[in-house]
Amino acid sequence: MISRRGFIRGVSGGVLATGALARSGASLGAWEGGQVIAPTLSIAHLKPSGPLDEAYWWRVRSQFNILDGMTFMNNGTEGPVPRVVLEANERVFREIAENPSNNYRREEVDEVRALVAGFMGAEAGEIALTRSTTEGMNIFTHGLDLKAGDEVVYCNHEHGGGIGCITTLAKRIGIKPVVIEIPSPPQSVDQIVGLYEKAITPRTRFIMVSHMTYVTGLITPIKELADLAHRRGLLISVDGAHPLGMMDLDMKAMNVDHYAAAGQKWLMCGTGTGVCYIRRDIQDRVWPLMGPPGDPKDGAKKYEAFGQRDVPSVLGMTAAVEMQKAIGKPNIEARVRALSTRFRTGLKAIPGVKMWTSEDPLFAAGLTLFSVRDIPMANVQQAILSRDRIYIRTMTTGNLNACRAATHIYNLPSEVDHLLDSIRHVSENASRYMTTAAQ
Ligand SMILES: Cc1ncc(COP(=O)(O)O)c(C=O)c1O
Repeated sequence: MISRRGFIRGVSGGVLATGALARSGASLGAWEGGQVIAPTLSIAHLKPSGPLDEAYWWRVRSQFNILDGMTFMNNGTEGPVPRVVLEANERVFREIAENPSNNYRREEVDEVRALVAGFMGAEAGEIALTRSTTEGMNIFTHGLDLKAGDEVVYCNHEHGGGIGCITTLAKRIGIKPVVIEIPSPPQSVDQIVGLYEKAITPRTRFIMVSHMTYVTGLITPIKELADLAHRRGLLISVDGAHPLGMMDLDMKAMNVDHYAAAGQKWLMCGTGTGVCYIRRDIQDRVWPLMGPPGDPKDGAKKYEAFGQRDVPSVLGMTAAVEMQKAIGKPNIEARVRALSTRFRTGLKAIPGVKMWTSEDPLFAAGLTLFSVRDIPMANVQQAILSRDRIYIRTMTTGNLNACRAATHIYNLPSEVDHLLDSIRHVSENASRYMTTAAQ
């Protein structure tokens, strides 16, 4: 369990004595309301200048105001916001609150769009800045000219944010959802692609698929599924709520038609931020959800005609993306994977634990789903929270009785080990937790 107070203890104990924070000359913290606040570093100070050792990751961790004493491991729902982003949000909120005459800040929003596009391997004209993944999923599905009998293929582990618009259109105009069962864990890329291929009929219009499922954290073979879709004359719509900010993404390399992502999860820009990529050459087939039909020269901006927006959050995305660029996309993905591999390796050694997430790095990164014997998941989650102040989430989808833990760049190996100890305690004391989460 690492707190900001712990961070400072680490500093005084010499953890950072030779680190770049010390070299930077930045002060090591100040007491504020009984808590030590580590200094906000400039984004440039997060650029690795030496080995990516634990001293470096301490420095990254010091830039998050995570509740003192809490180990937060549910980034898959919403990530904590690093201070550079928080401060950018606060600054713009104040500026607009005090002087609303320049409330739209259109040029700056365009700059965010261009920055996000570059970060994802897209063109600015292919990016709409949305309010959530769900909005991005709706933009695509509701934007197509679908008719009764058209089929959409997706799997049983898709999120309601992507499914909702399909079930609405099923009820409203009679499109047909075709739902396949995805194995947990799968055996191979061919097995997954084969399941989708078998479900395609002459009436299929598109495949809807999560790049990483929210249930088991399965990474689906998006490029192979995109190739399959295109071979069969279909479109592919990707629910990318998780990978943005966790994995090194490139839209062009994946060859997808549509990719909806969240800002509040792994990119850590706070609620009300999202990104919707729509490939330039299919934009004439996707109507805007709101507003006028749009002019081709506006590109994906035509999908943003939802009126006044939360400009401070949107402009705050710049700091989030710049921070990730400074750390380095491949470094972030490698760190997320190293922590979750440590977690999965530890889980396997705990008697009574079943892991639903694949051990193969091809199929898993920052999310891990597990069950502890037959203990009700709410008891497992509550016991871990109240005994050890570690926050993870429960998972019921597909009648699972499981818990999901996430690892991101602000997490530390010691936190992973702490969670493993906590799970081991619950498993060893199973009879106590069958009916209650009490200690
Ligand atoms: C895979 C997946 N898709 C969609 C969503 C919905 O995200 P948002 O709140 O950004 O719409 C989530 C949220 O947890 C998710 O995990």
